[in-house]
Amino acid sequence: MKHLLSAGDLTAAAATEILDIAAEMAAVQGREIKKLPTLRGRTVVNLFYEDSTRTRISFEAAAKRLSADVINFSAKGSSVEKGESLKDTAWTLQAMGADAVVIRHPASGAPYRLANWVNGSVLNAGDGTHEHPTQALLDAYTIRSRMGRIDGLRVAIVGDVLHSRVARSNALLLKTLGAKVTLVGPPTLVPQELGDVSYDLDALLPDSDVVMMLRVQKERMHSSYLPSAREYSRRYGLDGARLRRLPEHAIVMHPGPMNRGMEITPEVADSPRSTIVEQVTNGVSVRMACLYLLLGGK
Ligand code: NCD
Repeated sequence: MKHLLSAGDLTAAAATEILDIAAEMAAVQGREIKKLPTLRGRTVVNLFYEDSTRTRISFEAAAKRLSADVINFSAKGSSVEKGESLKDTAWTLQAMGADAVVIRHPASGAPYRLANWVNGSVLNAGDGTHEHPTQALLDAYTIRSRMGRIDGLRVAIVGDVLHSRVARSNALLLKTLGAKVTLVGPPTLVPQELGDVSYDLDALLPDSDVVMMLRVQKERMHSSYLPSAREYSRRYGLDGARLRRLPEHAIVMHPGPMNRGMEITPEVADSPRSTIVEQVTNGVSVRMACLYLLLGGK
């Protein structure tokens, strides 16, 4: 594998290899000295055209813990603001000898273009409403470590599915790994083509092993998809009462950033059933595994 552009490109065997290597990376993260010499002398560029907290820091931590040199580029304050194109920026990165480029971009498909313009590996860290494969991998890792397996689990992905690259990548990857995925939300926000669909969260809860809540992405909504925030929360928000309708063993996930009080209440987000903090921790190990495999570090 040269690039990581879509979760749909991963076979079950390839995804499982990433999760297994991530588990080895996680063991290193428990040590006092967290650094491995694996990618010494290699250069990883973080190219972020869109805001990010967790993903950018996580990729940076992952690359540094593998001893790579990391260059952080954010579009704000760069020549992008002077109108420089992605192609010209790509040539600049190429000239600097980037071995891997991690890209987040508001345009769906931008990482595919970039992969044609640089020699190094391209990792998609979120492109528009399209995909976010490392998020799906860290979510799969989190499910596997909490539940012991993924195969056969019933996963509900709830909320603004239409605008969510997290939902798209998770639907693809979790199905590849044998889960039964249902996409849940108001009809205006749930596309039909990703898999099984439900508009009734309450009916689905008692039959779910994993509930993955999504952020309502107001910045990507260019028309009115929702009657009101309150109506949305009333039907699709996860609160304490809904949490108690889940089976005892079920877990609650959210990729962050959360709109607390909209799609999830603080009571649920901070409950022991929530894996939100673990997802962030696991993100570093999973991204270490991805960089390791793509850059062929030994
Ligand atoms: C997500 C993203 O940016 O796609 N966040 C993340 O990477 N953890 C989800 C979101 O923005 O809602």
